[in-house]
Amino acid sequence: MFSPAASRNVKHWLFGYGSLIWRADFPYHERRPAAIRGWTRRFWQGSHDHRGTPGSPGRVVTLVSQTGTLCAGIAYQVAGDVFEHLDHREKNGYERVAVDIHLDGERGAGPRRVPGVTYIAPPGNEAFLGPADAEQIAAHIARASGPSGSNADYLFELAAALDALNVEDRHVTELASRVAALEKAS
Ligand code: SIN
Repeated sequence: MFSPAASRNVKHWLFGYGSLIWRADFPYHERRPAAIRGWTRRFWQGSHDHRGTPGSPGRVVTLVSQTGTLCAGIAYQVAGDVFEHLDHREKNGYERVAVDIHLDGERGAGPRRVPGVTYIAPPGNEAFLGPADAEQIAAHIARASGPSGSNADYLFELAAALDALNVEDRHVTELASRVAALEKAS
């Protein structure tokens, strides 16, 4: 695990691909659309503490290694002391991993690659659920909820945040339309 403990006053780039896109409950210097290569967003991680409970976990996103893919999200430039809060928020199976982050160009500047970190919940962690078909994942999300709110809201917030970034993620949009249909039918 990457540890910025020795550099609390240094700025770091953090890549968010799930709730970190729309729920930035930490101070940051800069927020930029960004992407990382070789990873795909998947609702394969269990949530015991935010969108579910230990007895009835929800399903949230992690990154799965996949050659040739690009995962788009948001990069934040943060001070090192922010990681104390984030390590606690992402404690349910996520590890801080070093990645190269591709920042979108802005204000006339071209795209830029910077070293940074992201939180990944790897296969085998205590809350990992792994793959399932879209119908099963949608049914699971439609019924789960936890201290941070309903699992469906997590999915809908993610879909809306990606939409606002003009990012197409078929895994997310398919699940969002399935869960919306389940809610309408109930
Ligand atoms: C992230 O947002 O980057 C990690 C997963 C999550 O907290 O939803």
